[in-house]
Amino acid sequence: MERTDYNGELSLKDVGREVKLVGWVSTRRRLGAIEFIDLRDNTGIVQLYVKEGVEVPDTRNEYVISVTGVVSKKDVPNPKLKTGEIEVVVSELKVINKAENPPFIIADKTDALEDTRLQYRYLDLRRPEVQRKLRVRSQIVKITHEYLDSNRFLEVETPILNLATPEGARDYIVPARLHHGNFYALPQSPQLFKQLLMIGGIERYYQIAKCFRDEDLRADRQPEFTQIDVETSFMSQDEILTMCEGMLKRYFKEIVNYDIELPLRRMDFWDAMDNYGSDKPDTRYGLLLQNVYDVMKKSSFEGFKDAKYMRAIVVPGYGAKASRKVQDELVNEAKKFGLKGLTILKYNAGALNGSFAKFMDEACQKELAATLNLNEDDLILIAASTNRRFVDFGLGALRTRFAKELGLIKPNTYDLLWIINFPMFDKIEGSDNQYTAEHHPFTRPRDEDLEYLDTDPERVLAYAYDIVINGYEAGGGTLRIYDHDTQWKIFKLLGLSDADAARKFGWFIDAFKYGAPPHGGFALGLDRLSMILSGTENIRDVIAFPKNLQAVDPMSKAPGEVSQGALDDVGIQIKKD
Ligand code: AMO
Repeated sequence: MERTDYNGELSLKDVGREVKLVGWVSTRRRLGAIEFIDLRDNTGIVQLYVKEGVEVPDTRNEYVISVTGVVSKKDVPNPKLKTGEIEVVVSELKVINKAENPPFIIADKTDALEDTRLQYRYLDLRRPEVQRKLRVRSQIVKITHEYLDSNRFLEVETPILNLATPEGARDYIVPARLHHGNFYALPQSPQLFKQLLMIGGIERYYQIAKCFRDEDLRADRQPEFTQIDVETSFMSQDEILTMCEGMLKRYFKEIVNYDIELPLRRMDFWDAMDNYGSDKPDTRYGLLLQNVYDVMKKSSFEGFKDAKYMRAIVVPGYGAKASRKVQDELVNEAKKFGLKGLTILKYNAGALNGSFAKFMDEACQKELAATLNLNEDDLILIAASTNRRFVDFGLGALRTRFAKELGLIKPNTYDLLWIINFPMFDKIEGSDNQYTAEHHPFTRPRDEDLEYLDTDPERVLAYAYDIVINGYEAGGGTLRIYDHDTQWKIFKLLGLSDADAARKFGWFIDAFKYGAPPHGGFALGLDRLSMILSGTENIRDVIAFPKNLQAVDPMSKAPGEVSQGALDDVGIQIKKD
C-alpha cells in the first residue's frame, strides 16, 4: 500500500510536500461544502481538509481510507493535537473498507463500561491511550532482552504442561487424554525448571514467561500474567540485587526519563510490617504505625491482657469526620485481616473520647497523648492481637485507605525499595507448630539462622527479597537451597511427609544429588511494571486481551463448555450441582 508518512509524525517541516496517508476516520465535520476529517493511525491523528469542489466518496467514523494531499500550515493551530499546526489538503480520497457504527466512541476519553470495551477490545485498542500503554510494555520487554543479553544471559523456554508447581496458588489444570484421571498443571511460574537449568550448567537464564494462577482477582492480578523470570548460579544476594537494579534503572530512564538512585534502599521485612503495616510499603507518605504496647498495657481493658502486639495510627484532624458509619467501616476493614476489632479514640481538648476511654485513667491517657504526639481532633486507631501480622496488616490497610482519601500520595513520583530478610515460615494461626512457606519451599534460610530450624522456626529468616514500587510488589526472588538435606528438613517443617514430598517434588529434588551449584534469581511482574511505568492502577489496561474480574474474557466469553465428545476423550464427567 502506498504510504509516504505516518499521520502523527507530520509537522511544519513537511509543509508543501505531497503525502499519501492511510488510516481510520476518527471524526468528520462538514461545514457547508467543505469537510474536515481526523485521520488516525498508530502514531496519532492528522486533520484532513477537503476543499470545496473536490469530489470524495462519503465516509463515516472508522472507515479505513487512503488519501493523497499536500501538507499545509494551519491558520489557527489546534493545541490539542500533536500535529495541530498543519493539515493535509486532500486531492484524492479512497475508501479501503467500510465500518459499522462502533458501539462506543473511539477516543482517549470514553465513558464506555470496561466490559463493553473489553467485549470490543479490537476497537478499544484503536484508542491512542491504550496503544501508548502497550508500547510501554513492549519497551520494557525490549530493554529486558538487551540488558540481559549483554549480561551473558541465555533465553530458554520452559514447558507449559507440567506437574503442579509450588507457588502456593491454585493451579489451572488440563486433563490428559492419554492418561485418564491424570492432569497437567499450567505453570504458576517456571520456578522448578529454572533451578534445573542451573543444575544443567546454564548459569544465567531468563525468560519472558507466561504464568497461570487460579486465585481471586484484583486490580493488579490476572489469572494469566507474565514474568520477567531470571535465575543465576554462583551469585550472592547482593550481586543479584545489583543486576536487577541495573535493569530497573534502564526501564525508568528510558521509558519515563526518571533517574533512580542506586543502590536502592533495603528495608527489613519486619521493619516494613511494623512501621508501614505492609510487606510492600508505599513510603511516599507517613501515617506510620506506632508501638503503643507499653502504654496500652496499662489500660484496664481485660481484652488486652493477652495481646502481644499493640500498635496505632493517628489520622490528623479526622476526629470530627469519623462518624459512627465511618467507624463501623474501619472496624469491618480491620476484621478482614484477622483482628477481632479496632479501638477508636478521638483527641479533643486534651482528653481522649470514645467508648474505650473509660478503660484508661488520666495518667494512661496523658501517656498515650505524649507517645503519639496527639493534636486537637486527631483520630486514633489501635489494633491489638497475639498475632503480629494481624496488627500490622490490619492497620496497614487503614493507612492506605486514609492516604488515598486524604490525597497524601503524590502523583508521578516513584518510590522503589527492596524488602529483605523475610521470615522463612508463617505459622498457621491457631496451630501449635504448623507452618507455611513465606515464599516457596526452595527458599534458602540465612546461614546464621540455620541453627533455629529445629528450635524456633519462626525466627528463621531467608535470603528472600521483593522489589516494591509505589506500594506494588513488582517482583521478588530468593536464593535457593542447594543441598539435599536442608531441603528435606524444610519439607518436614512444612508438614510434608517424606512420601508426599517425594511424590510431588522427588523428580526435582533428585537432581540436587548431582552437583547443584549455589543459585538464586527473581521474577519481575511484567504487567505490574507496565502499570507503574504507564501510570495506570488497572492491570487490564496493560494487557492486550485481559480477563475481567470474574476471570472471563468478555470478547470470546471464555471459559466455555466443551462438547460431550471432548469430555469423553479425556474421561471427564461433569458433576451436576
Ligand atoms: P512471585 O510469586 O512473587 O515469585 O511472583 C513474582 C512476581 O509476579 C507478579 N505476579 C502477578 N502479576 C499479576 N497477576 C498475578 N496473579 C501475579 N502473581 C504474581 C508480581 C510478583 O512480584 N518463582 C518466584 C520468583 C523467584 O523466586 O524467582 C515467583 O513466582 O509482580
